[in-house]
Amino acid sequence: MQLLHYNNLFCWFWYIVIPCLGLQYLLLQVLWHTTRKTPAKIPAGNRGIPFIGETIHFMAAINSNKGFYDFIKIRRLKYGNCFKTNIFGQTHVFISSTEAAKKILRNETGNFTKRYIKSIAELVGDQSLLCASHHQHKLIRSHLSALFSRASLSSMVKQFDELTVNNLSTWHNKSSIIILHEALKITLEAICKMLMTLEEKKELEMLHKDVGLIYEAMLSFPLRLPWTRFYKGLQARKRIMILLDKIIEARRRSKEKCDDFLDHLLIKDGEKSIEEETQLRNQQIKDNILTMIIAGQDTTASAITWMIKYLDENPEALNQLRGEQQALQQKVSRKAHLTFEDLNCMPYASKVVKESLRMASIVPWFPRMALQDCQIEGFTIKKGWNINVDAKSIHFDQMIFQDPYKLIPSRFDDDSKPYSFLAFGMGGRTCLGLHLARAMMLVFVYRLTTSYRWKLLDSDESIEKWTLFSRLKSGYPVHVTGIDEEREFPNA
Ligand code: HEM
Repeated sequence: MQLLHYNNLFCWFWYIVIPCLGLQYLLLQVLWHTTRKTPAKIPAGNRGIPFIGETIHFMAAINSNKGFYDFIKIRRLKYGNCFKTNIFGQTHVFISSTEAAKKILRNETGNFTKRYIKSIAELVGDQSLLCASHHQHKLIRSHLSALFSRASLSSMVKQFDELTVNNLSTWHNKSSIIILHEALKITLEAICKMLMTLEEKKELEMLHKDVGLIYEAMLSFPLRLPWTRFYKGLQARKRIMILLDKIIEARRRSKEKCDDFLDHLLIKDGEKSIEEETQLRNQQIKDNILTMIIAGQDTTASAITWMIKYLDENPEALNQLRGEQQALQQKVSRKAHLTFEDLNCMPYASKVVKESLRMASIVPWFPRMALQDCQIEGFTIKKGWNINVDAKSIHFDQMIFQDPYKLIPSRFDDDSKPYSFLAFGMGGRTCLGLHLARAMMLVFVYRLTTSYRWKLLDSDESIEKWTLFSRLKSGYPVHVTGIDEEREFPNA
C-alpha cells in the first residue's frame, strides 16, 4: 500500500509537475525574449582621423572615374546596411532599408530635417527650397507646387516635344552625337522657357556654362580662394543672380502677361494685394529659379542618357519599346506635337523610364539631420548627426528586386514594395518636378526610337568626376541612322 502510494506520488511528480515546470520555463523564456529591450547599437564604421575623418577618402571617390557613390558602396559591403563615417567634420550615417526610408522620409515624429553640406547650401542660396527652414519650406513649396499644374505640364510637353524634334532633326547630318550634351541643351532650354520665358541664345549659353560651374562646385571643399572650384561656383552664382535681377526688373515694369512661373510668382507694381506678406520675396524667387534649374536640368539629362544606354544593352526591351512607340506613331499625326494624353498611351515606355530611374539612381541618397537622439532599426542616431537614406542600395537590393543589375521593365507590372522605388524621393520632400521629368524622358525616347537607330561609338563606362548626379564621362556618343532612310534603302 505504502509502495503504491509512493508510486503514485512519483508518477504525479514525473508526469505533471516536471512538464508544468518545463512549460513555465519555456513561457518565461519566450516572454523574456519578446519583452527584453535590446540595447541600441551605435552604427559600425570608421570615423577616420581626428577632424578630417574620412573626408580624404570621400574626395578621392569624387575624383575617381567610378563615381563618388563608390565611397558608400565599399562601406556598405564592409559594415552592412547601417554604418557611419565622418566627412567635412560631421558624422554621417548611411542606412538602406525600406523601413528606415519610410521612417525618415515620412518623418511623422518630426525627428529629421533636410540638410545639405555647406558648399551646396551656399551655392543654391539660403532661400532655396533645398535649404530653407521648415516654415519657409512649407511656404515656398506651396507656391512652387501650384505651378506644376496639369495645364502647365500639358504646355510643357508640347514645348519639350517641339525642342526635341528641332534638335533631333539636325542629327542625321552629324557623324557623332553625344546624347548627354544634346539632352542637357534641350532640358535647359525647356526649363528656362517654363520658368521665365528665357529664349535668348546668348543668355542661355551663359547660363549653361555657369550652371555647369555650380554643379562642379557643389561637392568641393568650401574654400574661397580664386583658383578653387568652390570660388568659381560662387562667382557663377553671382552672375546668374545679376541675370535674374535684370529679368525680374524688366518683368515688373512690363504690362504684358507671360504664361510662365515667374509671372505667377511676382507681384507686379500696382498689383500689390493684402496677401503680399505670403508672397515670395525677390531673393526667394531668384534662389528658387536657380534651384529648379539645378534640380531639373542635369538630373533629367543624365536620366535620359542612362535610359538610352540601358536600352542599347537590352535589345529585347528596346524592340518591345519600339513596337509600342511605332504603333502609337500611326495614331499621332507626324506633324502634330505630342500631347500629355499621348504619354498615357505608352505603358511599356513608362515602365522603361521607371526601371531606368531605378538603375541609374540619379540622386543616390537623401540627406537629413537628426533633431534629437532617436533610434532607427535598433541603431542609435544622435542629435545633430546627418542621416542619409541610401536609395541606391535599396534599388539594388536582391531581396526586393530580382536580378537588380538587369533592365527588366516588366518588374513594374505590379506595384512594388512600399518605399522600394525612391528615384524621386518620398514624403514632404518628394521631387517637385517628377511628372515633368517623366514626361521629358517619355517624349525624348519616343522621338528617338521613332526617328533613328543608333550605334554606340565609345563604350567607356567611366563616370564623370566632380558631378553631383552620376553621369557618363563619355556622354554616350552615338552614330544615328534615320529610320526613314532605312525604309527607303532596306538593304543599306
Ligand atoms: C529624372 C529627373 C529627376 C530626378 C531623378 C529627381 C530626383 C529628386 C529627388 C530624389 C528629390 C528629393 C531629394 C530628397 O528627398 O532629399 C528631388 C527634389 C526636388 N526636385 Fe527633383 N528630380 C528630377 C527632376 C526634377 C525636375 C525636372 C525639377 C524641376 C524643374 C525638379 C525639382 C526638384 C525640387 C525643387 C526638389 C526639392 C523638393 C523639396 O525639397 O521640397 N526635379 N528630386
